[in-house]
Amino acid sequence: MVKILGVCGSPRNAATEYVLKQALESAASLEGVETDLITLRGKKINFCIHCDKCVRDNSSYCTLHHDDMDELYDRFYQADGYIIASPVYEMGVTGQLATFFNRFRGTYTILKENPSYFSKKVGGAIAVGGTRNGGQECTINCIMGFYHTQGITVVNGGLGCYGGAAVWSQDKKALGAQEDLFGIKNARLIGEKVATMAKIIKTSEFAQQTP
Ligand SMILES: Cc1cc2nc3c(=O)[nH]c(=O)nc-3n(C[C@H](O)[C@H](O)[C@H](O)COP(=O)(O)O)c2cc1C
Repeated sequence: MVKILGVCGSPRNAATEYVLKQALESAASLEGVETDLITLRGKKINFCIHCDKCVRDNSSYCTLHHDDMDELYDRFYQADGYIIASPVYEMGVTGQLATFFNRFRGTYTILKENPSYFSKKVGGAIAVGGTRNGGQECTINCIMGFYHTQGITVVNGGLGCYGGAAVWSQDKKALGAQEDLFGIKNARLIGEKVATMAKIIKTSEFAQQTP
C-alpha cells in the first residue's frame, strides 16, 4: 500500500481543508493508495526554539516539547507522499504550518546517516488565497522550501499547474473554493500526480535497494 498524507495548515475547517480533501480523494482513486489527513486546526504545537536537544539526543522527534506533535511524527515518517495545503497569510504559509515545519529539525539525525532518505518520498503543494493573485505562488514556494530542505522529491502538476495548485476562495470558505473550478481541477491533479509518483518510486528498484 502507498500512503499519502495530507497536511492542512488552516486553523479552520474551511476552504483549504475542502480543497485538500479533493486532492486526497483524487489520490485515493488510484489502486493501492490509502490516505491520511493531519489538520493543524486546534492543535497545540510549540515553537522550535533551536535548542538542538533533538540533535544532541540523536532523535528524529523533538525531545524538548511534549505536545500534539508527539503523535504526528510517526504519521509523517510513515508516509510515501505528501500533499501540504495552506491558506495564504501575508503571501506566505500560516503560522501553524510554519511551526509544524520547524519542528522537523530532528530529521537531521536521519539525513546525516542517509542523505537521500526522503528522496523516495514525494510532495505536492496547494495554496488557497482570498484574493485571486494574493500570494498563492509565494505560499507554494514556502511549502516547496520545506520539501527541498528535507530532500523530499517535489511533484508538480505539469502544463498550467507548474509549482502546485493555486486556489482562490474569495474569502468565502469552502463555498468560495468550490467556485474556483480551475483551482479545484489543479488540486485534484496534484493529488493524482503525488499518488502516481509515490507508487512508481515505491515499486522501483531504487526504493527496494535503499534503506
Ligand atoms: C491573517 C490573514 C492573512 C491573510 N493574508 C492573505 C494574503 O496575503 N493573500 C490572500 O489572498 N488572502 C489572504 N488571507 C485570506 C485567506 O488566505 C483566505 O480567506 C483563505 O481562503 C483562508 O483559508 P481557510 O478558509 O482554509 O481558512 C488572509 C487571511 C488571514 C486571516
